[in-house]
Amino acid sequence: MADKKKMSVAEILAAARSADGNGEKPAAAEASPPPEPVAEAQAETPPPAAKPAASAGGGRPSVSEILAMARAKKAAGGDAEAAKPAAKAAPKPAPAAKAAAKPAAPAVAAGKKGVQRDTASILAAARAASKPGPVSKAEAPPRPAAKPKSTTAAAKAPPRPVPPKPTKPTKPQPAAKKVAEEDRRGFLQIATGSFLAVGFTALSVTGGLFSLGLARFFFPNVLAEPPSKFKVGFKDGFPAGKVETKYVAQYGVWVVNGDFQGEQQIYALKTVCTHLGCTPSWLEAEQKFKCPCHGSGFYKDGINFEGPAPRPLERYAIRIADDGQIEVDKSRTFQEELGQWADPQSYVSV
Ligand code: FES
Repeated sequence: MADKKKMSVAEILAAARSADGNGEKPAAAEASPPPEPVAEAQAETPPPAAKPAASAGGGRPSVSEILAMARAKKAAGGDAEAAKPAAKAAPKPAPAAKAAAKPAAPAVAAGKKGVQRDTASILAAARAASKPGPVSKAEAPPRPAAKPKSTTAAAKAPPRPVPPKPTKPTKPQPAAKKVAEEDRRGFLQIATGSFLAVGFTALSVTGGLFSLGLARFFFPNVLAEPPSKFKVGFKDGFPAGKVETKYVAQYGVWVVNGDFQGEQQIYALKTVCTHLGCTPSWLEAEQKFKCPCHGSGFYKDGINFEGPAPRPLERYAIRIADDGQIEVDKSRTFQEELGQWADPQSYVSV
């Protein structure tokens, strides 16, 4: 049962080596007459079908053939061992035959020693005999180098014509869109320009006004008021009982040659109503000053006698100047209710 189980590779190789060893039998063994049991055993062994088949090719057997032969030998060996008892039962060979057979064993052993081959050599021999199979990288022959492309052929070949690339057509914009865009741009430009113009104008006006105010600050207005002192002429120009009105418009003064408390005097009356400040008028026919505002009336000497005026008119200071002319000084006033008309500076005696 143990022999019938599947054989390993090592066993198969060993059997193949033993088969090879058996195949090269020494001449001595062939020359000696084979004993009968051996001859019987050899007769019972199956005919070497694989061996003739391998040799029929004329070359060395392949691995598969070697394995088949080894298996056949193994099977034949089993049969031979089965036939051994029969051989044992047969009459023993003659001692001469034994003696002849004995020296054959060392010869076989010597033949085995000389023919013993390793696994690599067996496989190499099998591969050499059989058609080429897969080989390792180390054993593989070097590949021929790739043939370089002939430059002459490329140079001789005419250049391929390159078709011109089609230009991408530009998308035409509608005219209305262009006009609208231009209008929008124009409006934006005008609006921006207007804002800038307004801003710069306002800035310029503000700067001008500021400069003008600064100039007015450094050069203030001067009132062109008449001088407070002015000359009205000589005494001869003012006859008794005369009210001169030609200085009203320019100086606001009446120059009167009149009688006051029994004394003839020349005095200057202020043309301002003592009620609310209106300018009364001299009424030559009525010989009085009449206020047009509320009807107050004043005599020629300036005493109030009618209307709402609460007090007499006021006098300016008057004197005879160095040149003999009468000079009026508006910087000083004299009031009758205060008794100031008695001051000699408030009149010129005639
Ligand atoms: Fe002259 Fe009133 S202001 S009467």
